Amino acid sequence: MINQPNNTVFIGKVAFHLSSVDSTNKYAQELISKTNPIEGTVIRAEEQFGGRGQFGSEWKTKPGENITISIILCPKFLLVKHQFYLSAAIALGVYDFINELYPSAALSIKWPNDMYIGDKKVAGLLIENILRGIYLDKTIVGIGININQAVFDPNLPNPTSLYLETQKKFEINDLLFQLYAHLERQYFRLKKGSFYEILKDYQKCLFRINLLKKYKLSDGSLINAQIIGVEENGRLLVKHEEIIRSFDLKEISVIF
Ligand code: BTN
Repeated sequence: MINQPNNTVFIGKVAFHLSSVDSTNKYAQELISKTNPIEGTVIRAEEQFGGRGQFGSEWKTKPGENITISIILCPKFLLVKHQFYLSAAIALGVYDFINELYPSAALSIKWPNDMYIGDKKVAGLLIENILRGIYLDKTIVGIGININQAVFDPNLPNPTSLYLETQKKFEINDLLFQLYAHLERQYFRLKKGSFYEILKDYQKCLFRINLLKKYKLSDGSLINAQIIGVEENGRLLVKHEEIIRSFDLKEISVIF
C-alpha cells in the first residue's frame, strides 16, 4: 500500500499497486469484506489473470500496457433506484479523460458504459454495487482502458487502444491522476444531485445517438431504429417506426 501525493480530493489517496492479481474488482471485494477501506481507495494491477468483464465475460489485456484499476466508492447518499446516475457519471468521467488525451477522437459511450472510438471499443467498465436497504453502501468501479496495447486477442470483436488510434505511446503512471480527477469531478456532480445534467451529458455522448441503424432484438428480429436516449432507470430508449420503446440489457444489441 502506498500513500501518493496527488491533485485529487479522495480518489487515489490510498492505492494498492499489484504486479499481478486475478481481478482488481475481486481484490476490492475482499478488501471490503475484511477491512474498512477509505473511500477512493484504488487497486491497480499491471496484470490480471482473471480479469472480469460484463455479463460474466473475461477482460483480457497485455500486462503493463493498459489501465486496469478498481476504485472503491461509498455512495451512501444515493438511492438504489438512482444507481444508473452513478454508472452514467463514471462513464462520463472516463469519457472526459479519453477526450482530454485525444480530443479529435470520434469518442462515444456505447450504452450502458463502454467507450468507443468509431466502431471500436477502447475501454470498459464493470461497476458492482453493494446495497444497504434503499441506499447504495459501496461501489466497486472497475475500469479497463486500452492504452499502449498494439496487438489484441483475435477473438475480441472490435478492440482498439489509444496507441492504435494515435500512434503515440503513453506513460501510464502520468495518466492515472488525470483519470481520477475527471472521475471525481463527475462524482461530485452526482453527490450534489445534478442528475438532470448528468443524464443530459451522458445522452449527448451516446454511441449512434439519433442515427437510424440496424439493431437486433432478443427474439432474433432485426429493426431499423434510432437510439434517442435513456430513462432514469438506465433503460435504453429506441424509436422504431415512430414508436418509442425502452430496452434493458440483453434485450437489444448493435449490428456493426
Ligand atoms: C467490460 O467491458 O466487459 C468491462 C471490463 C472491465 C474491466 C476492468 S479491468 C479492471 C477491473 N477488474 C476487473 O476484473 N474488471 C475490471
